[in-house]
Amino acid sequence: MGTARAFSVCMQEKTTDIYDSLSRIYDKLFFVLKPGHRRVGKYLEEQKIKQILEVGVGTGLTFEHYPADVQVTAIDMSSGMLKFAQEKKQSRNDIAIDLAQMDALDLKYPDNHFECTYAPSLLTVVPHPKQLIREMIRVTKPGGIIIIVSHFEGDYWQDRAFSKFAAPFTKRLFGFRMDLKFRLFDQCPEVEFLAREKVNPVGPYCLSHLVILRKQK
Ligand SMILES: C[S@@+](CC[C@H](N)C(=O)[O-])C[C@H]1O[C@@H](n2cnc3c(N)ncnc32)[C@H](O)[C@@H]1O
Repeated sequence: MGTARAFSVCMQEKTTDIYDSLSRIYDKLFFVLKPGHRRVGKYLEEQKIKQILEVGVGTGLTFEHYPADVQVTAIDMSSGMLKFAQEKKQSRNDIAIDLAQMDALDLKYPDNHFECTYAPSLLTVVPHPKQLIREMIRVTKPGGIIIIVSHFEGDYWQDRAFSKFAAPFTKRLFGFRMDLKFRLFDQCPEVEFLAREKVNPVGPYCLSHLVILRKQK
């Protein structure tokens, strides 16, 4: 194994360990992500999207916000987080939810398979964000929708100062990086940018952006 590959495996193992340990208290800490989950649920309903791959599902906080009659395939690396997702799945018997332990950077699904792929708060956590976007695009059908909810470095110096200040803590505690930039999407010619909006407010600050892309036909 090359050094870069070994480093990335080690980073991923660390992150998975963090989430295995956090799984019991995750819902109490991360309730602040709910407005984003709700907003995406509304979008899926408006667009009448029925078949979704959710990557980095965690404890399944998104489940309550899915519209009725959707088919969700949901994956995560952490068995601890998936255990709680399995429990939450029981409360939505009006939708089909398939759970699997899988690396979002190496999806075991064929090309052009899902109507929609959705990554809530995963982009900042994986060792290779570009690879995550590439994999999501690959498994999305032509004309399908890619939804990313993530922290991005803000446009204003106050946002950047806050991100710089918080980065050592968020990395250590939650495996989050705080320095992702929107130009990450510049190298994705196969998608069209449909929308970008702020979500998950905490006081005057918004923790995340919702980004909606469409894969070219
Ligand atoms: C911040 S949590 C977000 C959970 C959920 N999406 C939410 O919004 O509450 C990040 C999740 O990504 C998972 N994760 C990290 N790296 C992953 C990878 N390479 N593939 C799949 N899941 C991963 C973690 O185990 C964790 O459950």
